[in-house]
Amino acid sequence: MKRIAVLTSGGDAPGMNAAIRAVTRTSIHKSWEVMGVRRGFLGLLNDDMTLMGARDVGGIINLGGTILGSARAPEFETELGREKAIANLRRHKVDALVVIGGNGSQTGSLALHEMGFPVVGVASTIDNDLYGSDTTIGVDTALNIALESIDRLKVTATSHNRAFLIEVMGRNCGYIALMTGIAGGAEAIVIPEVPTDPNEIGNLIAGAYSRNKLHAIIVVAEGAEWNADKLVHFFTENRERLGFEVRATTLGHVQRGGVPSAFDRVLATRLGIGATDAIEQDNLGVLVGRINATTVTTSLKDVVGNKKMLDFSLLEVARILAQ
Ligand code: F6P
Repeated sequence: MKRIAVLTSGGDAPGMNAAIRAVTRTSIHKSWEVMGVRRGFLGLLNDDMTLMGARDVGGIINLGGTILGSARAPEFETELGREKAIANLRRHKVDALVVIGGNGSQTGSLALHEMGFPVVGVASTIDNDLYGSDTTIGVDTALNIALESIDRLKVTATSHNRAFLIEVMGRNCGYIALMTGIAGGAEAIVIPEVPTDPNEIGNLIAGAYSRNKLHAIIVVAEGAEWNADKLVHFFTENRERLGFEVRATTLGHVQRGGVPSAFDRVLATRLGIGATDAIEQDNLGVLVGRINATTVTTSLKDVVGNKKMLDFSLLEVARILAQ
């Protein structure tokens, strides 16, 4: 019989609970024991873990957030901290650890694995910036929350003939901005991966008004050099010349707190099952993700060492469709 542990780490993402449930119940199905670690890597350091049964993960598939909690744990970034974490896992006779999280968390997974403790990662972050999975747990729900906000802003923007700027999350990745910009029919999309000329954005919006558009929407990724604050400042300074004023809305953490969509629940279930299968097959030091609609594993070394690319052709698509 095996004993595994599971934790959620980094920013919470809708669907994490469905992944915890899938890991727990497939483990029990394999006659293994499962320990739930509270508050991510911090729980490993504080020895905060407990055995979980099938009922402990009942009624959570529809809940956003994570029942195990999450935390930032600077001590875990030191070798001494990780040694303490491994010692606690070994004392509880844990054979392997499942880490449900994004980029920073999987860097922690790799560090643990390289120190000799078997880890399997599950791709989960609303940013969708993780190499090794086309889509990560939580991004579908976050996208739909951001999109609903854009749709609502469009309503009031149209009534008042106004330009709105909406800043979305994504850390250094423009995925959420790009996808919500396309789905929301934005006039302009600003992402960190592509240099921005604020004058060009201004001309796009001025051009939209000259074509009798009743509103203008600019979607900005929080990590862009020209983020919402800087763009609003620029547009305010150049108001007379550009001929319009802009109002800004920053969505922030609202995007993370939603009820997981059907897509995220199914994805999380598949990846949770994939994690226990990987452990059973002794396929360790990997991230479980979905590529081309198939559950796959990628070595954590590759995951941490590679950058996921966006489909930049969508920027041109947005421009053509905003005519
Ligand atoms: O990584 C997920 C994310 O929501 C990013 O989009 C955002 O930049 C960051 O987390 C915010 O982190 P925190 O919750 O620690 O403020």
